[in-house]
Amino acid sequence: MSLRKRLLFAFTLFVAIYRSEASEVNDKFTEFEVVPDILDTLPDDLKSLNITYETGLKVSLGNELKPSEVEKAPTVGWNLIDGGYYALLMTDPDAPSRVNATRREIRHWLVVNIVANNLTSGEEVVSYRGSGPPEGTGLHRYIFLLFKQNSTIALDTANLPNSETDRALTSTRNLMGNFTLTLVGGDLFQAQYEGNAGMISTNISLIFGLVLAQILYTFYEK
Ligand SMILES: *[C@@H]1O[C@H](CO)[C@@H](O)[C@H](O)[C@H]1NC(C)=O
Ligand SMILES: *[C@@H]1O[C@H](CO)[C@@H](O)[C@H](O)[C@H]1NC(C)=O
Ligand SMILES: *[C@@H]1O[C@H](CO)[C@@H](O)[C@H](O)[C@H]1NC(C)=O
Ligand SMILES: *[C@@H]1O[C@H](CO)[C@@H](O)[C@H](O)[C@H]1NC(C)=O
Ligand SMILES: *[C@@H]1O[C@H](CO)[C@@H](O)[C@H](O)[C@H]1NC(C)=O
Repeated sequence: MSLRKRLLFAFTLFVAIYRSEASEVNDKFTEFEVVPDILDTLPDDLKSLNITYETGLKVSLGNELKPSEVEKAPTVGWNLIDGGYYALLMTDPDAPSRVNATRREIRHWLVVNIVANNLTSGEEVVSYRGSGPPEGTGLHRYIFLLFKQNSTIALDTANLPNSETDRALTSTRNLMGNFTLTLVGGDLFQAQYEGNAGMISTNISLIFGLVLAQILYTFYEK
């Protein structure tokens, strides 16, 4: 292969990889029905977010995480788009369940006035709350959305609800409309009721171990 062909090949490969990554979030948001459940449309090239929990686990395109793995607020990074201000939202549209979402949406986290891509510079309007889907309600979607603000949001006049009771029956559409937010990025994970599943399996292995020990003991006694 000539150098020119090689360069062309490398360039094509780069474009293909870049394009597939750029549209991956769009594909997943379509697959997981983010439209029409909480949004009317998606921009063409949603940016991906680097959402990492203290447990080292990442939110990635609808993967399943356990409630015990997402208890504390994650770090959220994204490639710098441009300056200006951004808002980050985490919302659960599946309240009480995806099939019967009469309390859609539960607001889990809202940070506004983030400078460029520095999350810690933002103002936390609604404090982070991990996922706690009730027993028997199946998988819930936890959707992260990154918005570009058109200007800073004056919190004293914004009248954003931030109490436990105000978290339910919220609307991403209203939020976007009221503060002129433009969707630029996102990702999602899923979680379901965990209960004491971990405890039960520990107990089962403990019982199994004891039974095995008893069998071995009886065997060697003979
Ligand atoms: C994603 O975030 C984690 C935690 O902040 C960081 O260690 C990692 O380097 C980031 N990855 C990318 C690709 O930016
Ligand atoms: C849907 O959820 C509501 C509570 O939000 C409940 O009263 C109702 O019975 C549920 N319907 C079904 C079909 O599960
Ligand atoms: C991010 O914002 C925080 C809080 O305003 C500030 O202390 C920190 O220096 C900023 N980091 C960068 C890289 O600008
Ligand atoms: C946004 O607009 C809707 C509809 O006009 C309204 O009901 C809601 O309370 C407003 N505020 C927020 C913070 O969503
Ligand atoms: C920015 O949003 C506010 C509402 O939050 C609106 O009143 C204003 O006209 C918008 N400005 C621009 C330039 O779109």
